[in-house]
Amino acid sequence: MEKETIELPEAPLPLFHKWFAEAQTGEPNDPDAMALATATPDGRPIVRMVLLKQADERGFKFHSNEQSFKGRHLAANPHAALCFHWKSLRRQICVQGKVEIAPEAEADEYFATRPYERQIGAWASDQSRPLENRQILEKKIDTLKGQYPEGKVPRPPQWVGYILKPERIEFWWSHRDRLHDRFEYKKGADGLWTIQRLYP
Ligand SMILES: Cc1cc2nc3c(=O)[nH]c(=O)nc-3n(C[C@H](O)[C@H](O)[C@H](O)COP(=O)(O)O)c2cc1C
Repeated sequence: MEKETIELPEAPLPLFHKWFAEAQTGEPNDPDAMALATATPDGRPIVRMVLLKQADERGFKFHSNEQSFKGRHLAANPHAALCFHWKSLRRQICVQGKVEIAPEAEADEYFATRPYERQIGAWASDQSRPLENRQILEKKIDTLKGQYPEGKVPRPPQWVGYILKPERIEFWWSHRDRLHDRFEYKKGADGLWTIQRLYP
């Protein structure tokens, strides 16, 4: 059972890090997974999971393919939302803001740390484009392995880091009888955060 009160820091990042650290030990499956919602330029939302790679003063970083559905959405409409749900902890964090592409050097650096098979996979996948059958993908992988030996795979230019810069972050945790606690942090024009408790 959650305790009834929580100490809220002035800015949301320290609380995010605290909960994220607790999720690393308390949530057995993919504690770094988050739902990412983007929308088409005419406002139709799509949601899918991605993995959080970094959370710092700039925002929440994940990696993906610029030519994917999400990449094309974000190029036209940078507004997006994230949602973490740590079932075992009965906690949720929802984030809204605008997404920017991370510096190329950061994407290069992280790509270099990925296992060889995943590096090749990033080249082979035309993410979100139609694929006739799996054999085509496997053949592409074989060809790419001939082209790029292990340790010498450059980052595909379309494989990028994205940073969602938060404008609003809501922390939610479960209480008995559905009388949950919710706290909303909103960023003002002065860069400072205001905190508001919300009805469950
Ligand atoms: C737990 C989990 C983590 C995932 N992490 C990523 C990720 O970090 N980046 C990514 O591009 N796709 C990731 N995927 C796959 C995406 O959910 C999605 O299928 C893919 O990015 C294509 O999305 P789109 O067509 O909407 O652009 C993940 C899927 C799951 C279930």
